[in-house]
Amino acid sequence: MEKPAPVDYDVHDLIRQRYSARGFSGAPVSDAALRSIFEAARWSASSYNDQPWRFVVARPDEPGEFERMLDCLISFNRSWAQRAGALILSLVVPNFSHNGKLNAHALHDVGLAVGQMTFQASALGLAVRQMAGFHAEKVRETYALPESVEPVSVIALGYPMTEAELPESLRSRELAPREARRPQEEFVFRGGWGRPW
Ligand SMILES: Cc1cc2nc3c(=O)[nH]c(=O)nc-3n(C[C@H](O)[C@H](O)[C@H](O)COP(=O)(O)O)c2cc1C
Repeated sequence: MEKPAPVDYDVHDLIRQRYSARGFSGAPVSDAALRSIFEAARWSASSYNDQPWRFVVARPDEPGEFERMLDCLISFNRSWAQRAGALILSLVVPNFSHNGKLNAHALHDVGLAVGQMTFQASALGLAVRQMAGFHAEKVRETYALPESVEPVSVIALGYPMTEAELPESLRSRELAPREARRPQEEFVFRGGWGRPW
């Protein structure tokens, strides 16, 4: 299914075509595809090259592991994410590895790495939806996270359903137009805060 962004200026097709799908076909995602997606994260930029991202992956071919990650989601997210081809928990190490001090850009760098993963996934024909809707304490317990690590998001990815395959529960959401974006005048400034470029 295609939901291209109604862009105001030209962008790469990967950016125009990406959207956060909930309708996954349930088709398996290969090791090779997942390795490419994590490699895209690996080669992301980061402050001091600290690479503060960590990931835990769960796939339906290991049902126990997949259930454990699904159990960390809020119920609405669980309802559609159960058809994903993989779930990926993203984590941040908030302190620098070289001196233990707080890395003010750690979350920024995790987001950047996940952005690269998203575009690598799109290039492979996979759809991605990130989720803040998970139970952080449950994640902590389930994966025995040390104090030095924080959960950031759970990422669902998989091959998208066709329009005809969409179940009634997802149909109106998936077929809805892309959510509006602020125009550039509201977030690109010149010379001072709030003065549009
Ligand atoms: C950090 C983050 C958390 C999100 N959390 C959820 C979530 O819990 N459940 C959900 O259905 N979508 C979630 N989304 C998807 C957003 O709703 C979606 O990206 C936004 O509406 C823009 O739509 P688009 O990605 O299709 O352009 C999240 C996205 C991000 C980046």
